[in-house]
Amino acid sequence: MMRILVTGKEGQVDTSLQTLGENLGLEIIRIGLPEIDLSKPETLEAPIREIRPDAIISSAAYTAVDKAETETDLAQAINGDAPGVLARLAAELDIPILHLSTDYVFAGDKDGLYDETDTPAPVSVYGRTKLSGEEQIRAATDNHVIVRTAWVYSPYCNNFVKTMLRLGETREELNVVADQHGCPTYAPEIARALLAITQQVVVDRDPTLRGTFHLTGQGETTWAEFASAIFKGAFERGRKRVRINPITTAEYPTPASRPANSRLNGDKLDAIYGLRLDPWDVSLDDCLNKLITDTIKDPS
Ligand SMILES: NC(=O)c1ccc[n+]([C@@H]2O[C@H](COP(=O)([O-])OP(=O)(O)OC[C@H]3O[C@@H](n4cnc5c(N)ncnc54)[C@H](OP(=O)(O)O)[C@@H]3O)[C@@H](O)[C@H]2O)c1
Repeated sequence: MMRILVTGKEGQVDTSLQTLGENLGLEIIRIGLPEIDLSKPETLEAPIREIRPDAIISSAAYTAVDKAETETDLAQAINGDAPGVLARLAAELDIPILHLSTDYVFAGDKDGLYDETDTPAPVSVYGRTKLSGEEQIRAATDNHVIVRTAWVYSPYCNNFVKTMLRLGETREELNVVADQHGCPTYAPEIARALLAITQQVVVDRDPTLRGTFHLTGQGETTWAEFASAIFKGAFERGRKRVRINPITTAEYPTPASRPANSRLNGDKLDAIYGLRLDPWDVSLDDCLNKLITDTIKDPS
């Protein structure tokens, strides 16, 4: 049985990897806090050598984008340096490492979709630390697959969909930013792609399978349109109506800047792996079924 080590124990993507991996008959071993702390590289080596995985999926990260502006060193240790340590270990064990990165490595000032060949120019500490993680992995081993994704949501942990549903319980209307454009991506869909990639790179040393790839849900939207779709779906499932008032980024200042254009082109992954994720609104339906419909059926 293929043994895949995943960093992160309670996050959106690592939880999705665990659920899907079990269904596919893969052994998924998640490691994370409190036993393993990515900000303390010395905690990584012994457990990974003991587990002897066939591949590493580096999913865990410091994902608090605004807090990273002040916790710069911690964000750099977790997002920048830890992936480098993991990649060096993967190289020593002669196994592939898959690593999740982000649309926030880009400035967001491009007109079209971002390709893998576009030059990163992050506008936040989070984006800079994630870019550092990519660079440290590339320097450590060629046997890597860096997957940049964006706007991740799921039934698990904290994310935009869950925040909207929570706010909608007590509010009649919400102001949501309408001038940031991106592709919402469903964590179970990311897990599907990552596990398909992993199963291939473990058995096939072809260099064209390695490198950097973009992976998001199909289609594009804005946060305001995404919020409207969430509340439309929630209304269809018995929740009350919530009105969305579109606002500009300037009207909603945050400590970290965000790219105005986060749209990633997934053609390379499709061409090389034959992988394309479902349209984001199709996945949103599945997420709302799990968060609302299934909860009504089984209130426990
Ligand atoms: N969320 C997004 O919108 C988004 C967008 C683009 C790319 N990404 C990337 O996709 C990946 C997965 O994101 P996600 O949404 O699944 O993240 P998430 O839900 O925030 O989960 C992050 C995981 O990392 C763990 N972690 C944080 N600090 C750690 C430390 N010092 N040591 C060990 N584990 C630690 C967390 O553990 P605790 O829960 O115990 O803190 C959690 O399990 C990340 O690499 C992220 O940068 C995410």
